[in-house]
Amino acid sequence: MLVFAHRGASADAPENTLAAIEEALKQQADGIEVDIQQVDQEFIVFHDREMSRRTNGTGLLKDYSLSELQALDAGQGQNIPTLWQLLEAINGRCLVNLELKRITDVALLHDIIDQAIQSLNFTAEQFIISSFDHHLLLATQQLAPHIKIAALTASKPVEYAAFAQSLNAYSVNVDMTCLDQHFVQDAKRRGLKIMVYTVDEPKELLQLKEWQVDGVFSNSPQRSLQILRT
Ligand code: G3P
Ligand code: MG
Repeated sequence: MLVFAHRGASADAPENTLAAIEEALKQQADGIEVDIQQVDQEFIVFHDREMSRRTNGTGLLKDYSLSELQALDAGQGQNIPTLWQLLEAINGRCLVNLELKRITDVALLHDIIDQAIQSLNFTAEQFIISSFDHHLLLATQQLAPHIKIAALTASKPVEYAAFAQSLNAYSVNVDMTCLDQHFVQDAKRRGLKIMVYTVDEPKELLQLKEWQVDGVFSNSPQRSLQILRT
């Protein structure tokens, strides 16, 4: 089972910062998941639409310019990184799950991924693009059919993983709170991988291992890897 660092190793460093990325690499996570938002013609690594939970700013992200966002403290003196800074920091050392939050120009995002494949040590196989916004996944499929897509859900649809299959997704990424064994079996029967967020509890990790889930998103990758190896 693959262990992705959720927002980087976010139990040990401020989430979605380069410190959380370095920590995830140190903890030997199989992959790193981060949240991506667009600001003008740039992409930043940040989860919320409001600034106060994770920075010393207040109000809505959309009311900030890129330079104002970059001047904020995202915890322990860390800045909000750009997508390119994140890719340079990882430089092909593990898998990368870019979760698209508020994005308007998918083509521009794929230009950056292409640039990372051409000028950094990444291969296309190392990227997974996920989103709760399945229209962004369709746009990704049209622009970059060689990149894997993962359909996110925070609920248990009546037809389980059928929506992900209809998107021709690589995986369905499901909230732990609505997962059951039937959901896992349904995804596998449809030829989909199944990945689960956010999982740090030993009992849950071992349950998912028994169900042969393909991956988890964990805030403490090292600890989760240790538990799964027992
Ligand atoms: O990609 C898995 C997970 O990160 C989705 O939820 O809110 O943590 O971005 P959220
Ligand atoms: Mg996320």
